[in-house]
Amino acid sequence: MPQNERFAGKVAVVTGGASGIGLATARRLVAEGGRVVVGDLNADALDPVAQELGDAVVTVAGDVSAEADVERLVAAALDRFGRLDVAFANAGIGSVARLADLDISEWSRVLDVNLTGPYLLIKHASKHMGEGGSIVVTASLNAVQAGIGMGAYCVSKAGVAMLVQVAGLELGPRGIRVNAVGPGLVRTNLTEGAFAIPGVADEYVENTPLGRYASPDEIANLVAFLASDEAGYISGSLHLVDGAAHTMRYPDILGKVEDLMAQGQP
Ligand SMILES: NC(=O)c1ccc[n+]([C@@H]2O[C@H](COP(=O)([O-])OP(=O)(O)OC[C@H]3O[C@@H](n4cnc5c(N)ncnc54)[C@H](O)[C@@H]3O)[C@@H](O)[C@H]2O)c1
Repeated sequence: MPQNERFAGKVAVVTGGASGIGLATARRLVAEGGRVVVGDLNADALDPVAQELGDAVVTVAGDVSAEADVERLVAAALDRFGRLDVAFANAGIGSVARLADLDISEWSRVLDVNLTGPYLLIKHASKHMGEGGSIVVTASLNAVQAGIGMGAYCVSKAGVAMLVQVAGLELGPRGIRVNAVGPGLVRTNLTEGAFAIPGVADEYVENTPLGRYASPDEIANLVAFLASDEAGYISGSLHLVDGAAHTMRYPDILGKVEDLMAQGQP
């Protein structure tokens, strides 16, 4: 539960904010006094967010991998709320195929959304931030832990871990902090497919010392902390929030998909 008003008077943009981790974070920022521009590719899914969060939010449909869309998102914060303090580059997509079988268009799309998207938000949001600004990017446990059939995703998230180092280095002199969060398995729309494959969640849990997967709110807790002034000396780092899963091994999702296909199931 929110403890205070850490975002009173502050304005944030959140990408991928219509669902999962982004939505949980938008709710947290608003609950703690912030105003939020919520962006998402899925325009329909933004309507209930606007209804739920009311005057504290503006919703903007767009694609994080399109530079003009990212500029519109940032402009909405300035036009509607007059400032920008926090940017959460969270939108992301998955992909499951061995490197040898991965279509180049899928490789490019994953990198465009998961890595170029955060780069574009850092580029355009940081121009309008002053001292005390905070940028958070959603990386993944897969930034540091490889998974079979997850090459494009793992590479995109490992890229994010370096992106926040360079951005933290370049923006630090302006008093702007840049960090990444690295969630382990979280139950969201993105992972419903994985949860539907028998054994995937069980194998993750078996390989997670805390013995469970996470809720979106548990990731929002870390994002809100990093976005807040409480994290004033934290920048340029990847922060795992994974129940210590990085100490063990990632589940073989592709192997389970192939088992199902061998049994004639879609
Ligand atoms: N769920 C997990 O287990 C998990 C674990 C580690 C990292 N992550 C990362 O967390 C982030 C959020 O994922 P989630 O689990 O909340 O998924 P989600 O599917 O619930 O939410 C992602 C949102 O991003 C939006 N989106 C997708 N592509 C977009 C684009 N090109 N432009 C704008 N919006 C776009 C989707 O419409 C969706 O609303 C992603 O970056 C994901 O890689 C998730």
